[in-house]
Amino acid sequence: MSYRSYPKLELHLHLEGGAPPAFIRGLAKEKGIDIHKIFDEQGGYAYRDFDHFLRVYEAACTTLQGPEDFRRLVLAVLEESASNGVIYSETFLSPDFCGGGDLEAWRDYLGAMTDAAAQAERDFGITLKGIITCIRHNGPEQAKTAARCAVETKGDFITGFGMAGAEMMGRPGDFAYSFDMAREAGLRITCHAGEWGGPDMVADTIRDLRPERIGHGINAAKDLALVDEIAEQGIVLEVCPGSNVFLNAVESWEAHPIRLLRDRGVKVTVSTDDPPFFHTTMTREYDMLAEKYGWDETDFAALNQTALEAAFCDVATRERIAKKLEAAQ
Ligand code: HPA
Ligand code: ZN
Repeated sequence: MSYRSYPKLELHLHLEGGAPPAFIRGLAKEKGIDIHKIFDEQGGYAYRDFDHFLRVYEAACTTLQGPEDFRRLVLAVLEESASNGVIYSETFLSPDFCGGGDLEAWRDYLGAMTDAAAQAERDFGITLKGIITCIRHNGPEQAKTAARCAVETKGDFITGFGMAGAEMMGRPGDFAYSFDMAREAGLRITCHAGEWGGPDMVADTIRDLRPERIGHGINAAKDLALVDEIAEQGIVLEVCPGSNVFLNAVESWEAHPIRLLRDRGVKVTVSTDDPPFFHTTMTREYDMLAEKYGWDETDFAALNQTALEAAFCDVATRERIAKKLEAAQ
């Protein structure tokens, strides 16, 4: 049995990381860019470890050169998500890849992406919201340009601000200016932490950047007092088990701390992160949770409810998605 048609919400998806390899190969061919090195013999993305993954990711992004490419990307990614039962999705968008942080360029990219999201809603029945992310390894100064893009284009579609990239570069507090700016403008806050960093990185992120949600956060499980604090504060974890196993952030599905976190009262959600890079889909995540942990529709309904409550969307959207879930679950 597969949970493909079961309705799902996804809160942690990097837009470019959702690009099917064939889509990137097509763009490379159109533009005469040679990136054959980033693919393996089967045509999938090839990389050795997380740092290399980030470089391959950035090489793939060199084929995405204008608003029209991002319009096509949003459609390709959402068609795939919808075919896996996803009815609501939030995606990380980086102005660093869309005009390099220039606000006017960013507005053009964003216009194309919001058009595509509206078209995907009509054609595939999936709702998308955007979370602008700064890229940690590009440093705190570049992060300010992303935060400025976020503040200036906040609205119905851009609802949040966060940080992706190499987690072990710098400390969370280095980025406090950008996060303060975003929070003060009313953007909702999430941040990658505790995928590679230990409990101290998660604790510093909570203290210095004050996120409502944390991307991954799994290494918090190594400090139970911190786990209890996360539970108490109601901070939601965007857990991506398939990504963690594929990148060796954890040893195996069996060793993954998602059950421990959930059992101790932490609000957990499940996402794919960068699905083709990690050979996963939302269907596979749910199927693996069922196979490895015996999770069933009761558990999945609870995941959906947590994700719905933690979604960075307006009340009307939340109510609309709640009705859709009720009808489909
Ligand atoms: N983790 C951190 N940064 C990223 C990722 C990821 O999976 N994908 C793109 N940027
Ligand atoms: Zn991520």
